[in-house]
Amino acid sequence: MAQSLARENRILSALLEVSKVLNSSFDLEKNLSKTMRVIGDFLEMERGSVFLLDQNSHELKIVAAHGLTKEQIERGKYKIGEGIVGKVLEKGSTVVIPNVGEEPLFLNKTGSRIKKSGISFLCVPIKFKEESIGVLSADRIFKDKAITVDEDIRVLEIISSIIAQYVILWKHYRESEQERENLKIQLKGRYSLPNIIGTSDKMQEVFEAVHRVADSKATVILYGESGTGKELIAKAIHYMSQRAKRPFIKFNCASIPEGLLESELFGHEKGAFTGAISARKGRFELADGGTILLDEVGDLPVNLQPKILRVLQEREFERVGGERTIKVDVRLIAATSRNLEDLVSKGKFREDLFYRLNVVPIFMPALRERKEDIPLLLEFFLRHFNEENKRNISISPDALRNLVDYNWPGNVRELENTIERLVVMSGRDIMKPSDLPINIKLPSPEGILQKESLRAGIEDIEKSSILDALERTGWIQAKAARIIGLTPRQIGYKMKKYGMTVKNIF
Ligand SMILES: Nc1ncnc2c1ncn2[C@@H]1O[C@H](COP(=O)(O)OP(=O)(O)OP(=O)(O)O)[C@@H](O)[C@H]1O
Ligand SMILES: [Mg+2]
Repeated sequence: MAQSLARENRILSALLEVSKVLNSSFDLEKNLSKTMRVIGDFLEMERGSVFLLDQNSHELKIVAAHGLTKEQIERGKYKIGEGIVGKVLEKGSTVVIPNVGEEPLFLNKTGSRIKKSGISFLCVPIKFKEESIGVLSADRIFKDKAITVDEDIRVLEIISSIIAQYVILWKHYRESEQERENLKIQLKGRYSLPNIIGTSDKMQEVFEAVHRVADSKATVILYGESGTGKELIAKAIHYMSQRAKRPFIKFNCASIPEGLLESELFGHEKGAFTGAISARKGRFELADGGTILLDEVGDLPVNLQPKILRVLQEREFERVGGERTIKVDVRLIAATSRNLEDLVSKGKFREDLFYRLNVVPIFMPALRERKEDIPLLLEFFLRHFNEENKRNISISPDALRNLVDYNWPGNVRELENTIERLVVMSGRDIMKPSDLPINIKLPSPEGILQKESLRAGIEDIEKSSILDALERTGWIQAKAARIIGLTPRQIGYKMKKYGMTVKNIF
């Protein structure tokens, strides 16, 4: 009597323990293993195993087991209907083998039972809403004759129903995790533009703006230093818009003598001025149906600004020396490396034109403000110029560090030219710091002062470029290492340093 009460208590404690373990987290393997340990410790059962049906292979696999070695776990696979475990799943009902040694159906696949006599094998289905999703099995070693198998079965069936709930919850959890991952990937892809590199937040903002604005007719103004990609983005907007098949006309307001600007932009009639021997279309007319990029718009002479304003407002103008009003359907994109508001306050730029242009401002970040994009840009241009020159040049990690450190006053254009020069001129295949131009090799004076914060910055960059490379190669370390110019050992070391581990997916 006292003995059975003690056993009753142990069963309750075991059930409580199991529900605690399975409430703790969604670490499936760990928690099911713990559960099997509880069965062993409290209920004198050995080799408790949880088999779950793999939806892809339609096989039952051991997910967690207590008292089995890794190899034994590996071997424990059953097809539906195969062996006792397979039959329990198929029929959805419990099977008890009172004496394992006398049962021909018992396959002993894991090879874990050397002495078969005196062992009962208990095998209960794990069911959710009448559907078998797995099997829970355990060996009962009979020392105590007073305990009946019925009681053991009852306990195992309760535990298996708790496991069933847990597995279903875990599956939902995993699916929603997967969805979140997919969404992240989609979002990342959403803001990419062909041949324009930039995963930094600042460039992602630019890409997002481009996607948003491309389809409208809204005037866009691109602000940014020389070489930041203003023209590239203007073209992207044009080619993503419905005007893509119509002309993209670029006009640099700073490159033409003031006297010629008006006729270049608006065209002229025959005899409008000395030398105007025939009528000629201007850029606005040539861009009809398409897009015009007015580069360095801050250099537009003040006397010409009202005419631009009128095109923007009315989409009409007259050629130089002409009476006829010409109507055009043109989308205007302006670009400038100067501060237009400054020019407005100095009276060099009309305020009304400024507001007309400033409908959708896009700010191109300087390269030094988005250093995390430098490794990607280097890789992009290396591939390009390697192909163009039939070379196979890569950059050593030291040189990469120098290139990331450098503050790139000429932005992407300077980086592009630097890589082209290096690829063309380099005598060897791996570029070392000594191959770099002197200004890039040597840190600037403020660079020395900021060395510490820079180091932290570089580590961030290094980390994100390793992550990026890993993601792009499906976490194949050797491939990822090649992309960023590390050896497989180095990448392994760095991954450890930054606490990156390959995700374990069941
Ligand atoms: N994000 C980028 N990805 C790839 N290439 C880029 C990127 N940004 C700029 N480039 C390249 O850098 C060079 C300079 O870009 P772009 O001419 O668009 O700059 P910009 O801002 O118009 O410069 P500027 O004011 O000097 O005219 C081009 O060859 C362009 O293809
Ligand atoms: Mg430009």
